[in-house]
Amino acid sequence: MQRKRTIIISNRLPVRIERKEGQLHVIPSEGGLATGLGSIYKEGRNIWIGWPGFIPANEEEKIEVTEKLREHNLIPVFLTECEIEGYYEGFSNEVLWPIFHYHPSYAVYDQSYWNMYESVNKKFADSIMQQEVMDTDEIWIHDYQLMLLPKLVRAFNSKIAIGYFQHIPFPPDELFRGIPWRDELLKGLLGADLIAFHTYNDTQHFLNACTHILGIPIQNNCLRSGGRSVYVEVFPMGIDYDKFNELAQSPEIQTRAQDIRSFYQNRKFILSIDRLDYSKGIIERLKAFECLLKTYPETRNEVVLYMLVVPSRDTVPKYKELHDEINRMVGHINAVYGNNEWTPISYFYNSYDIAELSALYVASDICLVTSLRDGMNLVCKEFIASKESNNGVLILSEMAGASKELIGPLLVNPNSIQQICTALHMAIQMPEQEQRKRLDDSLEIVKKFNIRHWVRLFFKRLKEIKSIQQQEL
Ligand code: UDP
Ligand code: G6P
Repeated sequence: MQRKRTIIISNRLPVRIERKEGQLHVIPSEGGLATGLGSIYKEGRNIWIGWPGFIPANEEEKIEVTEKLREHNLIPVFLTECEIEGYYEGFSNEVLWPIFHYHPSYAVYDQSYWNMYESVNKKFADSIMQQEVMDTDEIWIHDYQLMLLPKLVRAFNSKIAIGYFQHIPFPPDELFRGIPWRDELLKGLLGADLIAFHTYNDTQHFLNACTHILGIPIQNNCLRSGGRSVYVEVFPMGIDYDKFNELAQSPEIQTRAQDIRSFYQNRKFILSIDRLDYSKGIIERLKAFECLLKTYPETRNEVVLYMLVVPSRDTVPKYKELHDEINRMVGHINAVYGNNEWTPISYFYNSYDIAELSALYVASDICLVTSLRDGMNLVCKEFIASKESNNGVLILSEMAGASKELIGPLLVNPNSIQQICTALHMAIQMPEQEQRKRLDDSLEIVKKFNIRHWVRLFFKRLKEIKSIQQQEL
């Protein structure tokens, strides 16, 4: 008998494909998910199915990429330009993303986006079917791009264990209700056995939507669908603590961090790292930094905001607009407050590897997270994991999932520029002893509830749920 297999599915594979000098390169992603699930998908016959973020020029290139990825237990789902436009940029990022991040006015309800979302979810389902799944296999579907997939997989296998994890928030049911295809989305997810979110609020919002929109009765965190009990639970995602902790202690990173600090003449170093996204509160952060320089003139020349923005979805109009606005504001602040010796904001529109990120975490005095809405926010956990042997202050938005878990950060409401500004001033002045105490409180949590713990718990629970369902038959 064949051993059970784990099949992971996400829109993006945990690697990206690049062609350099005629050669194809598979570049592993640094993201927490790739690291956490790395030990699983690389084992035995386990696989990870997803989009390689690459459009092959022809059939031969498609075969070449497929074979290359096979060596890593990865199965590509290739998307055409049209599919990327309708399913990824369109429905995923112009309907689901804004609604799920509480920005309903940004949503573009275009029927053709929905049609493409349905058809690409089917394409992912076909790819799973081609893998000859067996009843004993476990399927783990990740994130909002694939909300219809649990039902599609369930349709061809009623027994298989299906887990779904959503990395972004689930909105209150009255917001979710605005989506014309809300019933189909909820029913899509209910094909899973375990539906999980980062926070308790997200689970409650989802359960409310099932009751108020589909009329399904709920018992605690459980509901009945398709003759099965489906469980909706909280699994706050962790990071690879050991990796960030070890990197931060390594002599190479320490030297690099020292170089960064020297370059900025040991000024108070405020760090922010996020993808280009309106959900990250980048404009609010810039306004708060300007407020700091205005309200506390003594901070001028003494602080620097190092702002790394990773290019993301820049073909979507709202992202383009945001990019322009950031450029304008950074230019304005540097021009008004800067001088020959000091540039207040160092702004980079780029993506760094984990070593450079680690050096930035070590070098920073303050990590500033101002998300207007964020499923979890891993950056703040990575900052904490890098601070076992040096100080720093985390300013964290109470709208980020991590704020429900971490004890110790200075919490701010990102809609209040004044609050962020005051928190920055407090952080700049915070005594070392208080910094240490706050960091240690958070460190304990980030260390214990790391990514491996998260993966272990998820599979353990999925197994338990399958056995509960067995007993119900
Ligand atoms: N990251 C990266 N390179 C960069 C900047 C960020 O690999 O140049 C990683 C970062 O280490 C973190 C992830 O991107 O693991 C961002 O995750 P987060 O939850 O903070 O935000 P998301 O982008 O998922 O909304
Ligand atoms: C968030 C989402 C992921 C997504 C990532 C990067 O973390 O939860 O599903 O992969 O952002 O966005 P992108 O659109 O580039 O895949």
